[in-house]
Amino acid sequence: MPNNNPKSSTSRHGMWQNKGTFILAAAGSAVGLGNIWKFPYIVGENGGSAFIIIYLLSIVLIGVPIMMAEITLGREGRFSPINTMQKLVDYAKAHKAWTLIGWGGVLTGFLILSYYEVISGWALHYATEYGSHALGLKPVSEAMSAQDHWDNFQASPLKLILFQTLFVILTVVVISKGVNEGLEKAIVWLMSALFLLLLVLLFYSMFAGAFAQSVNYMFNPDWSKLGVRSVITALGHAFFTLSLGMGAIMAYGSYLPEDVHIPSTVILIALLDTVVAIVAGLVIFAIVFANPALEPGAGPGLLFITLSSAFMGGMPGGIFFGTLFFILVGVAALTSLISLTEPAIAWVVEKYNVSRARIAITIGVVAWILGLGTVFSFNLWSDFHLIGNQTFFDVIDAATSNIMLPLGGLFTALFIGWVMPKEQIFKQLSLSELGFKAWQIVIRWVAPIGVAIVFLYTYISAS
Ligand code: PHE
Repeated sequence: MPNNNPKSSTSRHGMWQNKGTFILAAAGSAVGLGNIWKFPYIVGENGGSAFIIIYLLSIVLIGVPIMMAEITLGREGRFSPINTMQKLVDYAKAHKAWTLIGWGGVLTGFLILSYYEVISGWALHYATEYGSHALGLKPVSEAMSAQDHWDNFQASPLKLILFQTLFVILTVVVISKGVNEGLEKAIVWLMSALFLLLLVLLFYSMFAGAFAQSVNYMFNPDWSKLGVRSVITALGHAFFTLSLGMGAIMAYGSYLPEDVHIPSTVILIALLDTVVAIVAGLVIFAIVFANPALEPGAGPGLLFITLSSAFMGGMPGGIFFGTLFFILVGVAALTSLISLTEPAIAWVVEKYNVSRARIAITIGVVAWILGLGTVFSFNLWSDFHLIGNQTFFDVIDAATSNIMLPLGGLFTALFIGWVMPKEQIFKQLSLSELGFKAWQIVIRWVAPIGVAIVFLYTYISAS
């Protein structure tokens, strides 16, 4: 439970060994399905580069300041997001309702976790399929068309559950070993693999893909394609991709050594996240454009159907590089899954003083059961609509991305901007007077108003 000591310099769960491992961990959380699966397809749906400019503005103006806020709160509290918020609320003598930031975060993380495992499983399934063709275990001639393959896969709950389960097990194994032996070790390996794979794929797409066309598509703005909706999507995605609004970054911040400079670290994390998203987009569009029959605006099926039919449809080395590509997606997803689980684990450890391993298994099982709702949304329950014409998965996805994350971010900004004592935050951020003033204006006004607009718009357009 929180103590009355306003500031402790370490966390009971362990501490990142240095700035580098924290950056990798936070970048690992940020880089995930959001970058490799979602970002390219929303760029495609919103007409390319003009959308990217709005997205970059959202990252810089709203994402970066809120990430600084979350890390600062985490390092100030040094507990799981729930207890950190409780401690800081006591300390600032604020209304108890602010602790909902912590509770809401854990709940949101849990809901995202449940479907994220299932979608990560899709990537693993594709990696094993491509891998077995690449290794000659299955003749390529037996491969179905990308669309048929997708339809068949989605129609089989057992297959979906198998790959979902593998991800649950991987996450539980890593997380049960703790911050230093589990998270830190796994993340260093996984992120190294991720950067290497991405680099290999970038070179591949430069040589085998229509790279110039891809660059043009991503960097030559066509403002006519941009509407209000695109702006809202860009802003909402900035939250999702930086893992903001649900406590993951706050939990990671609570393991951050005192001497690490938060603002410069955050800029680096946001930069890494953005570079990975852009490179992934360049790779994917270069491969898609190399096949004149395919087009970039395919929506969520861009990766699993459009890109897959490019890889399978006679690209040189397509099977091999397709295998690498889907391994990359799986690796990126795993480091995000770890961060989605950590806030809840840390809280149960603090509350009940039980071993991490036991809790990790319990939380894994509960998230797995909830994830079945997502699995069945694509087959057995595809006609079962929870709200309007939305399946169980659609509802959880929309509720978390469009409502819960923006709300979490909004209240985090308001809490640190208006409720926390200013001196404390000033010390934590160690910015110049002017830098701090600028950050304060953004966190008090720009970010909350921006988020409120997104929130209201999604609310109005849904009703
Ligand atoms: N940032 C991750 C992605 O882009 C998703 C995520 C959201 C992870 C919230 C943790 C917390 O895929």
